[in-house]
Order: sequence, then structure tokens, then C-alpha cells
Amino acid sequence: MKNILITGGAGFIGSHVVRLFVNTFTKDKIYNLDALTYAGNLENLKDIENSPNYEFIQADIQDLALLQTVFKEKNITHVVHLAAESHVDRSITDPLAFVKTNVIGTANLLQTAKEYWKDDFSDNLFYHVSTDEVYGSLGDTGFFYEDTAYDPRSPYSASKASSDHFVRAYHHTYGLPIVISNCSNNYGPNHFPEKLIPLMINNIIHNKPLPIYGEGLNVRDWLYVIDHARAIERIFSGGKLGETYNIGGHNEWSNIDLVNVLCDAMDAKLNRTQGESRKLITYVKDRAGHDLRYAIDATKLKDELGWEPSLQFEEGIKKTIDWYLSNKSWLENVTSGEYTSYYTNMYK
Ligand code: NAD
Ligand code: TYD
Repeated sequence: MKNILITGGAGFIGSHVVRLFVNTFTKDKIYNLDALTYAGNLENLKDIENSPNYEFIQADIQDLALLQTVFKEKNITHVVHLAAESHVDRSITDPLAFVKTNVIGTANLLQTAKEYWKDDFSDNLFYHVSTDEVYGSLGDTGFFYEDTAYDPRSPYSASKASSDHFVRAYHHTYGLPIVISNCSNNYGPNHFPEKLIPLMINNIIHNKPLPIYGEGLNVRDWLYVIDHARAIERIFSGGKLGETYNIGGHNEWSNIDLVNVLCDAMDAKLNRTQGESRKLITYVKDRAGHDLRYAIDATKLKDELGWEPSLQFEEGIKKTIDWYLSNKSWLENVTSGEYTSYYTNMYK
């Protein structure tokens, strides 16, 4: 029996991973360790919170002693590490928070696992969830491959790149059994509305301006969050130790094209005249150091583990909009409090 510690399980991607693991690994125990920062929300897991193989632990990965206690008390055998500060704009305002959680927090977890597993790693795995942003920014063509040189350019991506290096260093130096995946931009239910897609959906609902950075020509490769969770489960179960897998949707959109799609789909859903929401689009000052384009080549994952995205983008966007429209109280809860001051400062 495995005792699987998932960190950051109350966040956007983590909550989908926790749900999938609880429902898939029914004979194993899933521990969700999360500090419940502004981005963590146990409402995301209401449907599985009483499952017999699930337990929540509120803890901060910056607290080494607490991690040591958790590993010992719960006899942790496997880690799936998602806990992170995850928003580029916040990393520009407060870079050190990203060093503390993403770099030091990851190093704390690695060290705790190494010490607790006592260098006998036969039944253990440390799975680190990372981002394609570590590879930097592409021009108009080309893709990120698993062996693309790291070139992080924001405090967020620099902190994730650093955490990836620590994970590989523990593998090479101590033999810790690790696997890393680097995924493109996710979207879907439970996405915190500081990120592009949920922010735009929320603002369209409330007839608020839709802030597009720069000229809106930056390109992202979007993947439905449940497909990311499926990929993580596949790599957790069958990935080769020490390896890296890229995950992506082959689904590139410039920000302005994507927001136009959202506007038109929302107009249809909200019975507004076509074109009404597009009038809310407002070009604002560009993000500092704004990466131009991300695009993932996920051939290795397809060839080795047979993973492919299950949803087309049009379907995924429809499902996402439907989810936000039927979960208005979720949206209201997360946009009260801290969000209001964040939004006012960010978009003043
Ligand atoms: P999120 O911000 O929605 O959730 C992060 C979670 O981590 C929250 O529940 C938060 O409470 C928790 N957390 C933050 N600091 C913590 C700490 N010090 N100790 C314990 N818990 C803490 O993030 P997300 O978008 O779900 O991303 C999850 C992971 O996936 C991150 O590692 C991120 O780098 C990676 N990733 C995200 C994307 C994306 O598009 N969102 C794409 C690729 C990779
Ligand atoms: P985001 O969702 O923050 O993800 P990331 O920066 O990690 O890719 O942003 C996606 C893209 O949308 C990025 O090019 C920045 C842009 N963007 C805007 O134009 N306006 C906004 O209000 C936000 C939050 C993002």
C-alpha cells in the first residue's frame, strides 16, 4: 500500500490531481498537504473530502520540522509535488515569496524524503510538477522539447527552474527516485481568477473591462486541466525514473484571439448580442519581461506512455464557461477579500 503525499492539492491543478488519485488508487492513501494560501480552497474538494482513502493536512512546505513529522506519522512513500506560488504577475511584485515556497519549500521536501526513506528507495517516488516556462520564450516557430536548455525569464519561472535543478540534483547525487513533468498553460474548473481565462470570464460576467497586456499577441499553449491530471497519473504510474516528460495540448492561441473566442461564447451563453463583450476589451501596459510564446512538443509522453489530450479546445472552453456560470458562489467566494486589493493594485 502506498501513502501518497500530494502537495498543493487545494489549488487549481492539485485539486484535480487529488480527485483523480483518490478515485484511481482506492487501495492507497492520499494525503493532501496544503498551506491554504489565497490560492488554496478546500471547496474544490467537497465531493471527495469524506473518502476513506483521503486526508487533508494543513502545513507549509517552508516548515521543515513539520514535514519531517508528517512523513514519519503518515509513513509517506510517494510524493506528488504541486505546491507553489504560481502567478507570474505576483512574482514580479514579490519575488522572494517565490524563492521561499518554490525553491526552499521544494528543497525541504526533497531533504525530508531523502532522510525519511533512509537511502533505500526501492518503493518510493518523488514526482515534481513543473512548467514549460522554465524553457524561456520561443519566437514565432519551434517547440520546447525535454532537452531544451533552461532559460527562465520571470521570477516565477526562475524559481520553478531552480526547484527542477534541485530535484535532478537529488537524483544524481543521492539516487532519489524522481520524475519531473513540465506542462503548458492549464485551464478549466477551479482556476483562480487572477489568471487569463478565469479573469476574463469573471469580468465578462460582471461587464468589467478585459485587460489585455501589450498588443495581445503573446501566445500560450492551452491544455484542459483534467488532461494534465491524467498525464500526471500516467507518468506517476509508468514514467521512467530520472526522466522528464513535457505535457502540452498542441493548442496555441494568441491572447487576443483567445479572449475574442471567450467573448463570443459568453455572449451566446448570457443571451447578449454578439460583439457586446468584445467592447469590454481594453489594452493595458504590458507585463514586464513578458514571454512571447510557449509551445510544447509532447511526443515523448505520447510515444512512451500513450497519453494524448482527450478534449478539443472548443469543447474544453465550453465546459469551463459552463462550470463558472453554474458555480457563481465559488467565484464570489474567491473574489472577495484578498482578491479585491490584489485586483485594485494590479489593474490600477
Ligand atoms: P495554484 O496557485 O492554483 O495552487 C497552488 C497551491 O499550493 C494552493 O493550494 C496553495 O495553497 C498551495 N501552496 C502555496 N504555497 C504553499 C506552501 N508554502 N506550502 C504548502 N502549500 C502551498 O497553482 P496551480 O496553477 O494549481 O499550479 C500547481 C503546480 O503546477 C505548480 O507547481 C505550478 O508551477 C505547476 N504548473 C501550473 C500550470 C498552470 O497553468 N497553472 C502549468 C504548468 C505547471
Ligand atoms: P497567465 O494566465 O498569467 O499565465 P502565464 O503568464 O503563466 O502564461 O497569462 C496568460 C497570458 O495572458 C500571458 O501572455 C499574459 C496575458 N494576460 C493578459 O493579457 N491580461 C491579464 O489580465 C492576465 C492575467 C494575463
